[in-house]
Amino acid sequence: MKTNIVNTASGKANVSALFFVKKSVQFSNVLSENAVTQVESVLNGMKDGPFEDLELLEIDGVSTIFVDAAKERGLSALDHLRMSAYRLAKRACKRQIPTVSIMLADAAPEQFKSILHGLHYADYKFDAYKSKQKDAFQVTFEIVAGEQVAEFKKIAEEVAVEHKAVVLAKNLINTCASDLTPAEFVDNANAIAKYTPGLSIKVRNMKQLEKEGFMGLVTVGKGSSHEPYMITLSYDGTKPARKGAAKVAAKSAKIADKNARTSADHLVLVGKGLTFDTGGLCLKPPKSMPEMISDMSGAATVLAAIQAIATLELPIKVSTVCCLAENAIGFKSVLPGDIFKAKNGKTVMVDNTDAEGRLVLSDGLAEAGEIGATHIIDIATLTGAMVRALGYAVAGFFCNDDDLGLKVINCGEACCEKFWSMPLEEEYADALKDKFADLKNTGSDAGAIAAALFLQEFVPENTAWAHWDIAGTAFVNKTWKYTEYGATGFGVQTLIELARRMSKADEESIENDAVVSEDEYKVC
Ligand code: BES
Ligand code: ZN
Ligand code: ZN
Repeated sequence: MKTNIVNTASGKANVSALFFVKKSVQFSNVLSENAVTQVESVLNGMKDGPFEDLELLEIDGVSTIFVDAAKERGLSALDHLRMSAYRLAKRACKRQIPTVSIMLADAAPEQFKSILHGLHYADYKFDAYKSKQKDAFQVTFEIVAGEQVAEFKKIAEEVAVEHKAVVLAKNLINTCASDLTPAEFVDNANAIAKYTPGLSIKVRNMKQLEKEGFMGLVTVGKGSSHEPYMITLSYDGTKPARKGAAKVAAKSAKIADKNARTSADHLVLVGKGLTFDTGGLCLKPPKSMPEMISDMSGAATVLAAIQAIATLELPIKVSTVCCLAENAIGFKSVLPGDIFKAKNGKTVMVDNTDAEGRLVLSDGLAEAGEIGATHIIDIATLTGAMVRALGYAVAGFFCNDDDLGLKVINCGEACCEKFWSMPLEEEYADALKDKFADLKNTGSDAGAIAAALFLQEFVPENTAWAHWDIAGTAFVNKTWKYTEYGATGFGVQTLIELARRMSKADEESIENDAVVSEDEYKVC
């Protein structure tokens, strides 16, 4: 797919695309009077039932595709646009139309963004394992942007960066487990760190993890022939070398004295990275096992997000911690009933070897604390209970900080990713207590809540924290919105948006602060 953003239509496109909702055409101010009349009569003729989406008609001498932007139930207006653009691109590709012109001169920036996302989604295919790879037909989309050309070009660059990240996450998740072991995940992360300016990387292997007491990863990973790893990637967009960053740093230092929660924000993203989850000795049933190639979705999501955040040079400090292991059966596998001491000193009895995600995440949360997180988001395909509760369309999240929780929901909405707030229900906390150890890794029947309460035991003090359980949303086994089968890339865009909004809030408050202090100075 190629996009060409232009001021006015070149007239060279083979087909022109028109988005409509019921009887009204969207983004229509570039149509001639004659065309408007013809389009109106076409749309009026729809009253006997829904118009056949993407029908090709002659309007004012131009071959025109009508794209219905209001068909799906339960989706936001922006998501309708994504879906419509996705369908448009698929059809244009199937019909082998070389150039499609889209009239967007009066589209709002977020509408344009949605359309672009839809076009990008249509471009994704994962055929690495097919014996024959087919070259997809390349469609060029001429975006008629009127006076918004410059702004739309900037948006297009950002969306391209975001989608590169989404594709990275999806490819990693879709790759089978024997081809993406923890060590191979590390290779990918090393390459990304090497080619992304501003990203630095630290990798700990099994020996180092053991030496430093990251025993959750060691306990889960030691049963496999593929050793576990922890990756910490760091990016600091507030460094004085960047524009405006000196101000950011000064402001950060000032607030740090007042309140640890709102000091120089350091957002740490922690990802569950089980390159495969057999369940360990508490073996999973065969039916639900193949999908466990996606049990490293959290790690893939945070790796992809930081790649984009660094590429976009967002003025914020962000780190990611990927907790990588394979939960396998071997002669060294952890035994049910075994007890280990976690990095924060708490002892844990492994009641069920299939509840391994929370064990590796305990180390990720500890590492987040060690590197000075003010905000932590952990992302994990953690529980089957969450799949049963919310399915594949909505991710459940748990949060100890209202401000962060609201941001998650709002950023998700802006990115067409749905989040539902779940309770950290204290009444179930006692169920995590063990007779011998401080904790056990199973709890109440409310499985997703039990897992979140377990994680909460490892969240560093004074830290805003959210836990996203993406077990349902990370991977789909049937077509869902703009994903045909497999990894959805869920969460990548919301994380980028969160970093974007957090960085903006920081910059805005710095500016306000600077004005106040300047005035104060004059009065004195
Ligand atoms: N990786 C699974 C959770 C999962 C289930 C992810 C379905 C994606 C789709 C996790 O490690 C797991 O097995 N959790 C157990 C915990 C239980 C044994 C306490 C579960 O939810 O069944
Ligand atoms: Zn498991
Ligand atoms: Zn798992």
